[in-house]
Amino acid sequence: MAAKAVTMEKLVALCKARGIIFPGSEIYGGMGNTWDYGPVGVEIKNNVKRAWWKRFVQESDNSFGVDAAILMNARVWEASGHTTSFSDPKMDCKECKSRHRADTLIEAHSKGKANPDTMTNAEMEAYIREHEVHCPICGKFNWTPIRTFNLMFETSRGVTDESQNKIYLRPETAQGEFVNFLNVQRTTRAKVPFGIAQVGKAFRNEITPGNFIFRTIEFEQMEHQWFCKEGTDGDFYAEYKEKAWQFLLDLGFDPAHLRFKDHDKLAHYAKAACDIQYDFPMGWSELNGIHNRTDYDLSRHQEFSGKTLTYVDPVNGERYIPYVIEYSIGADRLMLAILSEAYDEETLENGEVRNVMRFHPAIAAYKAAVLPLQKNLAPQAKELLAKLKKRFNVIYDEAGSIGKRYRRQDEIGTPYCITVDFDTLENGTVTVRERDSMEQIRLDEDGVIAFLTEKTAF
Ligand code: GAP
Repeated sequence: MAAKAVTMEKLVALCKARGIIFPGSEIYGGMGNTWDYGPVGVEIKNNVKRAWWKRFVQESDNSFGVDAAILMNARVWEASGHTTSFSDPKMDCKECKSRHRADTLIEAHSKGKANPDTMTNAEMEAYIREHEVHCPICGKFNWTPIRTFNLMFETSRGVTDESQNKIYLRPETAQGEFVNFLNVQRTTRAKVPFGIAQVGKAFRNEITPGNFIFRTIEFEQMEHQWFCKEGTDGDFYAEYKEKAWQFLLDLGFDPAHLRFKDHDKLAHYAKAACDIQYDFPMGWSELNGIHNRTDYDLSRHQEFSGKTLTYVDPVNGERYIPYVIEYSIGADRLMLAILSEAYDEETLENGEVRNVMRFHPAIAAYKAAVLPLQKNLAPQAKELLAKLKKRFNVIYDEAGSIGKRYRRQDEIGTPYCITVDFDTLENGTVTVRERDSMEQIRLDEDGVIAFLTEKTAF
């Protein structure tokens, strides 16, 4: 993996210029850190989600998917604890009225040396006072006390004012998996241990969103709950740490850019929790979490719903509420890590610098670009394109010199460029140029299909 040349500014600019990610509602001046995936970005993100699903559902011995409603009964969030304790400690600058998270202020001021995760609100206030942590916007030192700020977006259902009921946009996908535990178990006849996975949108009214798509108010999560018997949870926790790590390596991450970080402060119900952090352009930050949630979630839903959620062992008739090992990763945050990891500026022998996104071929938006060497070869190129499109997401480009077309594909990370030239007319072969090495080989049509099938698999 090449040394990191990436900065957030370069990534944001490249993403916008190449149709990967645009600022949300841009023509209206944007909308507080929302982002829209463009034609290239949506393909990459879909590939990321597909790769994750393949690994954690399709290839798992005993995992099943769900796609639960975003809007859930409000009691779900009482049971999960989100209505009471899903909050951030906020402070307002009395001078410029900007709003900040106290923990973020401390982390930034201490350059990561102080750990706000282990502090109470009073301790965070004391730290900010003693160290005279100034407002990062206006530079003044005049803070309100800390107030807690619930992160859930509220909405209401019902058509008349009288019938309005407060409901929430889900802040995590996990609860859709917990409430369907028995539905999935009964319909699949799964035996514990088994898993339930979900990919979908989540919403959080984050006070300090930022760093491009790292922390946004609307994002997608890929979550997997592994239901197991108490006593086996420690081994499965270790197994999921390993699986989460391996998934990232298989996507092409350099292990030097990843590290495990145990949580300093465990949630009261958690037995163990850690993150995998990635060395993002703005520094080391959480990429995904692995949590041993014990039997907390199912027990709480049993209590609040009044419905029994115990599992009955079909062999010995034992009844128990399973423990849960949760593996959770944001699709957008993984996108940011993948974009950062893939970004490279390569100086060529002739001194030219090329921008190349070195995505794993399975993640790249297009598996190949079909390029006629000259415009009069377009009919043959389009014929090949039509055949390849039946199997792969491929793109066509005939505009500009072949060199310029290669560069355009390098910038969006297309792993292979297939050029139809005059030899194609003679013997039916094309050149296939590989993005990273820029080496070329000649293949016939069947050879191209076999080659792409092998090289673009995950
Ligand atoms: N069900 C557990 C859960 O939601 P979390 O650590 O709050 O745990 C899991 O979130 C993952 O979701 C994070 O590791 C991160 O990848 C992603 N994520 C969380 N908040 C996010 C945000 N505001 N924007 C983008 N991704 C976010």
